[in-house]
Amino acid sequence: MSLFKSLFGKSPPKQVVVQPGGEHFAVDAGQTVLERALKEGLAYPHDCTVGTCGSCRTKLLSGRVEAITPFGYTLSKNELDAGYILACQAIPKSDLELEVEIGSDSAIAPLTCAARLVGIDDLTHDIKRLRFQADQPMRYRAGQYLNLRWNGGDAHRSYSFAAAPSADGSAELTTFVRHVPGGAFTDLLFTGDPLAATYEIDGPHGNFWLRDGAADKKAPLICIAGGSGLAPLISLLQDAAERRVRRDCILLFGGRGARDIYAQDEIAAIRNAWTAGFDFWPILSEERHDQYRHGMVTGHVGAALEKLGPGAHGYMCGPPPMIDAGIHALTEAGIALDHIHYDKFTDASTRG
Ligand SMILES: Cc1cc2nc3c(=O)[nH]c(=O)nc-3n(C[C@H](O)[C@H](O)[C@H](O)COP(=O)(O)OP(=O)(O)OC[C@H]3O[C@@H](n4cnc5c(N)ncnc54)[C@H](O)[C@@H]3O)c2cc1C
Ligand code: FES
Repeated sequence: MSLFKSLFGKSPPKQVVVQPGGEHFAVDAGQTVLERALKEGLAYPHDCTVGTCGSCRTKLLSGRVEAITPFGYTLSKNELDAGYILACQAIPKSDLELEVEIGSDSAIAPLTCAARLVGIDDLTHDIKRLRFQADQPMRYRAGQYLNLRWNGGDAHRSYSFAAAPSADGSAELTTFVRHVPGGAFTDLLFTGDPLAATYEIDGPHGNFWLRDGAADKKAPLICIAGGSGLAPLISLLQDAAERRVRRDCILLFGGRGARDIYAQDEIAAIRNAWTAGFDFWPILSEERHDQYRHGMVTGHVGAALEKLGPGAHGYMCGPPPMIDAGIHALTEAGIALDHIHYDKFTDASTRG
């Protein structure tokens, strides 16, 4: 037993340094890395806080942690082998050096505001576009998401922004929401009276955004979306097109049938504005049509990478099984996990 522990009855705080930003803090005995980071006021990426969404995925560069819930419930074997942990489940057992991108721009620190639902459009049979009017402008990075509460309840649901951000922030916030039958919020949206409900939004959250530092500038992009997972990719690609990011890109979108294909106008506008090669590959798993590819969306990763050439980076959003299959396909093709970014759209049925 250490001298500190025998004198004071508990382990001394563990020092944690987070790269590449160099943020540092001390974690008390029994506390998780995420718990402490949030108390320090850091915009540490997270969502569920219970080890199921993967948003707090962090690379352990050095040191030892104890997992409250085994990381393997949420992280893939490839991620575990590469040293990733979940900050919300990690209790430091020594001083730690971690690697995760923390939103450091104070202009996009999360804020909470009241909002009205002012527009609902059908995008497909089970996806709607929602337009919220917030009582103050919100800034976010393309690809991030907001948390929504309704009718004064405590529970929140996460929805990705579905449009490029504007520099000064916007009070009109757009999301794409897919119906999950039996789901508390999406049943209200699809079968109740959502316009009569009251809303609170907090955000932005998450670290799904385009890495376009000097080292990434030329890497081709393979983007993979399923269902409403198109929302953050549209936001990210619209923003990249506006900023004239010059990288070849293939956007793969998976649906079951032709009725699942949507947002064609937004994608055509991105393609027109894109300053390098841009392909859109809609892929149907349950129907065959001449104009669409057939099969599971992740089954087309090899062909897309062949077309893009070496050094591609992966960006994915959608249902958890698609993300897991995508991580597998991309890493099998030699893409390092550091170059694979994703948001898993978990819900109560896919957690745990
Ligand atoms: C980072 C992130 C971003 C996201 N972005 C989007 C987005 O842009 N668009 C989008 O459509 N979705 C998105 N999601 C998913 C979204 O947050 C909601 O989870 C989803 O809309 C379902 O909400 P709900 O209230 O309708 O369903 P919930 O009430 O959460 O229920 C979901 C399903 O689970 C079942 N269920 C409820 N409780 C349990 C239980 N205890 N055990 C087993 N099953 C149960 C329900 O019957 C239902 O079928 C995102 C999720 C995350 C984590
Ligand atoms: S916040 Fe850690 S897994 Fe969801």
